[in-house]
Amino acid sequence: MSVRIAPSILAADFAELGNELAKIENAGADWVHIDVMHVHFVPNITIGPFIVEAVKRSTSLPLDVHLMIEEPERYIDSFIDMGADTVGVHVETCPHLHSTLASIRARKRRACAVLNPATPASMVEPVLADLDQVLVMTVNPGSGGQSFISSQLEKIATLRRWIDDAKLDVALEVDGGVKNGTIELAAAAGADTFVAGTAIFAADDYGEAIRDLRTRAEKAQAAKG
Ligand code: DX5
Ligand code: ZN
Repeated sequence: MSVRIAPSILAADFAELGNELAKIENAGADWVHIDVMHVHFVPNITIGPFIVEAVKRSTSLPLDVHLMIEEPERYIDSFIDMGADTVGVHVETCPHLHSTLASIRARKRRACAVLNPATPASMVEPVLADLDQVLVMTVNPGSGGQSFISSQLEKIATLRRWIDDAKLDVALEVDGGVKNGTIELAAAAGADTFVAGTAIFAADDYGEAIRDLRTRAEKAQAAKG
């Protein structure tokens, strides 16, 4: 299982966004993770489609767009038009999750379902074959720099078992408090895709930070066998 590292630009210097994107691309990042927040779902307001368009022009990396907004189906087309490659919607905001995921796939983009810490894995079990990625939040969404919630490891392990048992090609991503010391736990539980904001953008050397995270995840996966 190959490891993907997706830096969250929430922790980047927005006055230097173009440079920050170039730096993470040169540093070996696999994807760019973009946190779209609106107060109707989380206590913050961050990035809209226009910034996604600017990011798209400034990097050749795929854009992993994490929508923390109510009624995400109203905005999916805009974010795809502006350059999203993966669109993540919170299951808590999607009463018609199957249909929302299908609308992302209909545009030939990767569909991701996101679970808050209090939301059980069973919420996505019926649609696992209809998506490309599941994102397990290991913090309550709304801001960067929070502590990893270890109780989510069991949820990651459950999802890994379901994905493998059904032989599905579904990425299993974790987001929140991912750093040295927690990435190993998430990787051992079965995650393969790791979002990290502070752990990368607060480091002096982004390349070293990304290499270190990747190595730790790979070792934890290998030890698990
Ligand atoms: C939290 C966001 C995360 C966050 C991660 O609401 O979805 O992507 O930026 O930041 P760190 O890695 O600092 O916890
Ligand atoms: Zn995120």
